[in-house]
Amino acid sequence: MHGTFETMESVDISTKIIDCYTENSQKFTGQYESLTPAEVFGSAISLFPLMPSFTLDIGAGSGRDAAWMARQGHIVTAVEPSDGMRELAIRTHADQPITWVADRLPELKSVQRPEGGFDFILISAVWMHLVPEDRGIAFRRLAELVSANGTILISLRHGTSDPARPMLPIDTATEIENAKLAGFRLAKTVNTEEDDKLGRGDVHWELLQLSLKAEQAP
Ligand SMILES: C[S@@+](CC[C@H](N)C(=O)[O-])C[C@H]1O[C@@H](n2cnc3c(N)ncnc32)[C@H](O)[C@@H]1O
Repeated sequence: MHGTFETMESVDISTKIIDCYTENSQKFTGQYESLTPAEVFGSAISLFPLMPSFTLDIGAGSGRDAAWMARQGHIVTAVEPSDGMRELAIRTHADQPITWVADRLPELKSVQRPEGGFDFILISAVWMHLVPEDRGIAFRRLAELVSANGTILISLRHGTSDPARPMLPIDTATEIENAKLAGFRLAKTVNTEEDDKLGRGDVHWELLQLSLKAEQAP
């Protein structure tokens, strides 16, 4: 873990991160809204569902992707724990019928599972904000929320941290193992060695597409 955060409880680290998003919500919203989902996800945009589906965007930030999914005809729930980000996102995308939930990983206690589960769950640029010991708990909760044939798309950030909103290191093999232990199988990995879309040359992203193993499906 990073420097001064070594001695902090995971819930305190999480609260510090979320407070940072609230304090800087205008700046982050401006950054996130400056890109389209097609620019952010590149060829992986094809991994989003085509048919109208129950979708869940966790750590939805400015609501850019939630709003885009709503425009595609999906029934969208967006989870965002930062009050500042969420309130701005609600105003920015007031024209879209998105259900906003104030909640956070790993437990997601307030998220209501639709009957049959969510067909698609997006976790974009969030996993690095979870301390490693919370990631297995998060995968187990995701396994409860996803539908039998649903998919999860999760982006993993590799690169330098930001002391104001810690980004904990991610070991891809460990996360795949965590996901498998929670009942998932890895459907696809998209390794983008391209530069970060917000111009940070020292950051790159990897995308994992996960589905429940057949024997896990309810
Ligand atoms: C880098 S932003 C990404 C926003 C959006 N998903 C995107 O790709 O533009 C990270 C977001 O995750 C949220 N976040 C931080 N910790 C979280 C947690 N434990 N559970 C869910 N969301 C969290 C932050 O409030 C912030 O809005």
